[in-house]
Amino acid sequence: MQVSITAETEVLYRQLLEKARQALSNSYCPVSGFSVGAAILTEDGAVYTGCNIENAIIGGSICAERTAFVKAVSEGERKFKIVAIVAAKAKDCWPCGYCRQYMREFGADIVVVVESADGTLRTHTLEELLPHALVTG
Ligand code: THU
Repeated sequence: MQVSITAETEVLYRQLLEKARQALSNSYCPVSGFSVGAAILTEDGAVYTGCNIENAIIGGSICAERTAFVKAVSEGERKFKIVAIVAAKAKDCWPCGYCRQYMREFGADIVVVVESADGTLRTHTLEELLPHALVTG
């Protein structure tokens, strides 16, 4: 089920997608050539962005979403509302399984937004993207 989008939230989602698109320009992806940007909105209205950063060592890479979360959480942020994701070579760039679990740690109700090829917005909560997540806290 899609999170309902109002005129107000659509503006917000598109602003965040634009910030994610800007972050994508800093992507370092010599291994895959697949650049990704993410932008997170905190409950207090702050925005943190991130890009994917790859490494020659297998397992040494980090996705755009986790880069943004690492930046935010290490600055003391804990409460998040929205995560926007943009990829240069793909529309509908939904987060990988690792990132779903990583972000779910900070809330089931966080909304993930991506843009479809036809320009429409698609949204899902992390609960929808990762049902029955591991929660230890
Ligand atoms: N990637 C992300 O940064 N976020 C996603 O949601 C999907 C995948 C990155 C990881 C890797 O650097 C490249 O895209 C190809 O998988």
